[in-house]
Amino acid sequence: MQGVGIGCDHAGFRLKGAILRALARLGFEALDFGIYRALRTDYPRIAHALAQEVSRGKLHRGILVCGTGIGMSIVANKFRGVRAAEVWNPASAHLAAEHNHANVLCFSGRLLRPGQVAPILKAWLRTPYGKGRHRRRVRQIQAIERRLCRRG
Ligand code: RB5
Repeated sequence: MQGVGIGCDHAGFRLKGAILRALARLGFEALDFGIYRALRTDYPRIAHALAQEVSRGKLHRGILVCGTGIGMSIVANKFRGVRAAEVWNPASAHLAAEHNHANVLCFSGRLLRPGQVAPILKAWLRTPYGKGRHRRRVRQIQAIERRLCRRG
């Protein structure tokens, strides 16, 4: 089993349940960073906790869910080595894996329905990182990070 970190705020709580079920069906173990009850929560705290583990190399992949997916992705992308992509459908998840080597996916809990998540996760988890120009571009991102970012 491979581990995938997952975290949400109150606006992502319902969709997180659907993601947890889909991950289990796909054979992935979920490491849950909360929240565990749908109580109003500030998303930066959850994104920070998960993205830090990815940045430190303790977690290979993560998923974050808030109302729009935007706040979570803004926070996660502050961390060196984190490539967080907000995705809306299998095509954007496929491209996030192939082109951007995205190691964190962000979802909108308010604008996606639970039934939409399984094909999106499948596309992300099963698509290999592309070669050639995609690797060159990700290496350019890494060079920027080396100059500008410290590890979280
Ligand atoms: C919470 O109301 C909402 O602002 C949050 O879940 C998220 O959408 C922020 O980007």
